[in-house]
Amino acid sequence: MKMVQHPAYEGPRKRLRMALDQHRPGHMVFIIGPSGVGKTTMRRSVMQEMFGNPACWGRGRVPVVETFATLPHGAYFSSRQLAVSLLQELHAPTLGWLLEGSNLEEEVKQGIRKELAAAAADWERLGRVRQTEGEHWGLVQRSLMARGCKYASIDQVTALLVNHRDKSPADHTLHLMAVAESTGVMFVMTGVHKATQLWSVNSELRRRVTTVWVPPYSDKRREDRLPFLRLLRSLGTRHSLSQSDLLIRMSADILAATGGVFAEVVELLVRAEVAARQDDSSRILKRHIEGSYYGTEDLKNLWRDIDAFEKSMLAGDVSERSAQARSRWEVAHEERGHG
Ligand SMILES: Nc1ncnc2c1ncn2[C@@H]1O[C@H](COP(=O)(O)OP(=O)(O)O)[C@@H](O)[C@H]1O
Ligand SMILES: [Mg+2]
Repeated sequence: MKMVQHPAYEGPRKRLRMALDQHRPGHMVFIIGPSGVGKTTMRRSVMQEMFGNPACWGRGRVPVVETFATLPHGAYFSSRQLAVSLLQELHAPTLGWLLEGSNLEEEVKQGIRKELAAAAADWERLGRVRQTEGEHWGLVQRSLMARGCKYASIDQVTALLVNHRDKSPADHTLHLMAVAESTGVMFVMTGVHKATQLWSVNSELRRRVTTVWVPPYSDKRREDRLPFLRLLRSLGTRHSLSQSDLLIRMSADILAATGGVFAEVVELLVRAEVAARQDDSSRILKRHIEGSYYGTEDLKNLWRDIDAFEKSMLAGDVSERSAQARSRWEVAHEERGHG
């Protein structure tokens, strides 16, 4: 699919690029935003921009690894499993970030796929020895260095929050930062607003985290209005609408029905198109869109997540403490002056 260079995407994309250019292994970059705003797409596009040409990597080198922190069904997060999947990516990379939706020529992609298949077969042949969690991480560290890896991306990091009672999420963050410092790799973590719990309780961590917020279009931000209309106009060209300005006239409704989330708008229009077809209509009418809104419960949950995200993103209010400080310091100043 063609990339849409919409503003809610361009701003965070630039900030992510800056955060990555400042390569600080002891620090972590967090990409935070509601599901469907385009975090994964944005991250991959920046990775492609930085490392899109494998011919420049050097033999046996992998500058970026990408993995997804998944939870086994109904189970706790497993640090050992994360180590295993990082190892897998270091020895038999899938390179989804490079191959999916990139501009590489088909011939080049074929060549890469062949090499990857060979690497995967070699890795498979080695077989798995049962090792402790610590041994796995030792191997990860050696492999990160041997591959000259600079960035390790972990997506869906909220999985790291699901732990046994004696383990705190910040422990994982601390552990990964230690791995990063000793190997010269920088971790890039992607997730929804809940992932802020991976650092927020700990002031030592907070200082070492750079956050790239990826917000949806919001009616609370005046400056989001025109870009949202422009996005609707651009997405509208993918469908056949009863009136060319149908989406523009429904913009407030569409914002309310989608939370201003890119993928939600895309999916709403896809559902409306299906509704139109079921109706034997060659064009999408207003009622097809309205009939495709989520149910009340789903909408409530969508907005709850977005409101929680907006709250995490907002710069904190310092006015109360600042007023206190001012009055106390002024009193102290006067006492000294007259004393
Ligand atoms: N800039 C963009 N241009 C085109 N499609 C996009 C863009 N951003 C996101 N998408 C599409 O929207 C959907 C959700 O994007 P994704 O990156 O998976 O969001 P997230 O990781 O935040 O949940 C995907 O289908 C993706 O292809
Ligand atoms: Mg994603």
